[in-house]
Amino acid sequence: MLIKITTLPGDGIGPEVTEQAVHVLQTVAESFGHEIQVTEKNVGGAALVASNDPLPVDTIESCLASGAVLLGAVGGPAFDRYPANLRPEVGLLLLRKTLGVFANLRPAVCIPGLESLSPLRAEIVRGTDVMIVRELLGGVYFGERSTTGAAGSRRAVDSMAYSEPEIERIARIAFDLAAKRRKKTVSVDKANVLDSSRLWRDVVNRVAKDFPDIQLSHMYVDSAAMALVSRPADFDVILTENMFGDILSDQAGAVVGSLGLLPSASVGGKVGLFEPIHGSAPDIAGKGIANPLGAILSAAMLLRHSFSLEAEAAAIESAVKEVLAAGHRTRDLAAKGQPAVATREMGELVAARVRAAKSAPR
Ligand code: IPM
Ligand code: MN
Repeated sequence: MLIKITTLPGDGIGPEVTEQAVHVLQTVAESFGHEIQVTEKNVGGAALVASNDPLPVDTIESCLASGAVLLGAVGGPAFDRYPANLRPEVGLLLLRKTLGVFANLRPAVCIPGLESLSPLRAEIVRGTDVMIVRELLGGVYFGERSTTGAAGSRRAVDSMAYSEPEIERIARIAFDLAAKRRKKTVSVDKANVLDSSRLWRDVVNRVAKDFPDIQLSHMYVDSAAMALVSRPADFDVILTENMFGDILSDQAGAVVGSLGLLPSASVGGKVGLFEPIHGSAPDIAGKGIANPLGAILSAAMLLRHSFSLEAEAAAIESAVKEVLAAGHRTRDLAAKGQPAVATREMGELVAARVRAAKSAPR
């Protein structure tokens, strides 16, 4: 098969981690006999610097002509001087919108044996395996926005809006996923305060009638945040709107040990977009110490969701688990005083396991 992708390394640690994800993808392609074609383009701050546009036209064209897009990270304090409509983040939001990827899947798994990575007690985090299904094209991220008035009396507005079709389509994705997992879905909202959440709950309840095997419950976002740290292993699928999902997925990352481990897939549109959930981490950018596993696991999701290459995706995921089980740790995962491997080394460790597993199947 031809695996044709566009990579958008972006800013901060984005290029370093994307390089390793591509290295692992190339290794998988070689091991399984696929052809891979990678086109690299600019997005975010990197694109602002190159062409004063956070999402240049040739980037969009390349993405739309690919089978999938692999993104590193965007943003950083270096770009704070740009006006609001030219922020790196605008490039990412516009890309999501242009590709039509309304469903953002963010798995957070506590890998057995790695409970000690979590700041929580092992008995609390053990068994955690959550899939956050975040609505990605609506809500306050895309609602009307304005700042009016003179300095000293300015007023800023961001509005959170959802329509029934937007809620329905993401609910179906969540229930379909739950059906393949432990058949539980918690829908998270703030229906005690927000109209958009009351509509959310109403539509989710209606769609749930088509999925009689799924056990659905509702939680307010504040109490969901509490439950996610006090009993994370109870969750299966969490279905939620854009901003709640943004916040809860960082929290879920911390719960299982490191944000640096978590991948994401944005699907449902013309072309899938895959990115680690961590940010550009400007404080460690360029040092070669960032954790590439979130990006590498995003590449696995890319193979699964955009190319239906399940065995290839699983090969990456097993390799990552083996490397971690063997005790290899990047800086973010290493305990105080424990030695850490560099970004490149981690990528090569995973690639080597993929190669070894394929040449000596067990
Ligand atoms: C994420 C990021 C983005 C978001 C930012 C960079 C716009 O935090 O993917 O979670 O808020 O969606
Ligand atoms: Mn985020």
